[in-house]
Amino acid sequence: MSCVIHPPSDSFLRQCSEQLQSGQLVAFPTETVYGLGGNACDDSAVARIYAAKGRPSFNPLIVHLPHAEAAGRHAVMTPLAQKLAAAFWPGPCTLVLGRRPDCSLSLLVSAGLDTVALRVPAHPVAHRLLETCGLPLAAPSANRSGRISPTEAAHVASEFSNVFLSIIDGGPCAVGLESTVIEARGDIPVILRPGSITAEDIFAATGIIPLSADHAPKELHSPGMLASHYAPDRPVRLNAHSANPGEAMLGFAAINGDLNLSPNGDPIEAAANLFAYLRRLDTPPYCGIAVAPIPETGLGVAINDRLRRAAAPR
Ligand code: TXA
Ligand code: MG
Repeated sequence: MSCVIHPPSDSFLRQCSEQLQSGQLVAFPTETVYGLGGNACDDSAVARIYAAKGRPSFNPLIVHLPHAEAAGRHAVMTPLAQKLAAAFWPGPCTLVLGRRPDCSLSLLVSAGLDTVALRVPAHPVAHRLLETCGLPLAAPSANRSGRISPTEAAHVASEFSNVFLSIIDGGPCAVGLESTVIEARGDIPVILRPGSITAEDIFAATGIIPLSADHAPKELHSPGMLASHYAPDRPVRLNAHSANPGEAMLGFAAINGDLNLSPNGDPIEAAANLFAYLRRLDTPPYCGIAVAPIPETGLGVAINDRLRRAAAPR
């Protein structure tokens, strides 16, 4: 297995688009850093992104769109979001917005939250890829977890030397720093991650002084890290081999239940189903959710991290 690095010819972009449509991952350049992209509507493709990055938890991902009009299909564009989009899209600006009730994006890109991060990149190659494949692309920076973001195609190849991956070579990234992440669900912008678009830029565009993450609502600081953030309404009991009376049973591998995260014990399939299945079982008549043990290997580490948060006392 190895990576294929190729310049952004029309034929290579078509080939990459087909790979994306069939659920595979493609690395592509943006003006900030290279992204590891997958179909944002496909739970399995999104699970594969987490697996490839070796992330120990499900930190939510940014969804990349070809133009600002596409954002309103997935998220609630507040007046503030519209101002920010008009000023900074396409560009290194990511908006965290409420998911629309009919949002077709995977729950895994939101890591179970009711919000989604959207961005319209300015890089012409990213734009061509998004137009050619016709899919919203979930894409974190194309590095393994805990390593620095890649700004050249060769960096991406060195990160993923043991997986097959198509890498579109668009040359070095102009910005080289990840996008500014701005929460824009209310009236006041909140900078969740600083980037090349500054608080001054945001003030100039909106006339409002943005808050920094320190002053943001607690649940927005670092979505991956809060103990009970992704908790369903019902109590969750881990490492269960069967349900107690009234509980729903969420199975895995040979341990069956009302739903089974992956009858074959495949952690990628289990991750793809995790948030959707928890939501389905967090309903009447059940009074709690018992979850079968998941082995602590590969994506199992991130699944267990999230399950422990779901089960944490509140
Ligand atoms: O420049 C960039 O943003 C690059 C390129 C590829 O677009 N992408 C990137 O993705 O840096 P990533 O996954 O490495 O960082 C995404 C950031 C994380 O800090 C994550 O917590 C935040 O965005 N984020 C994503 N969805 C969020 C959400 N729903 N609520 C709050 N923060 C969110
Ligand atoms: Mg990153």
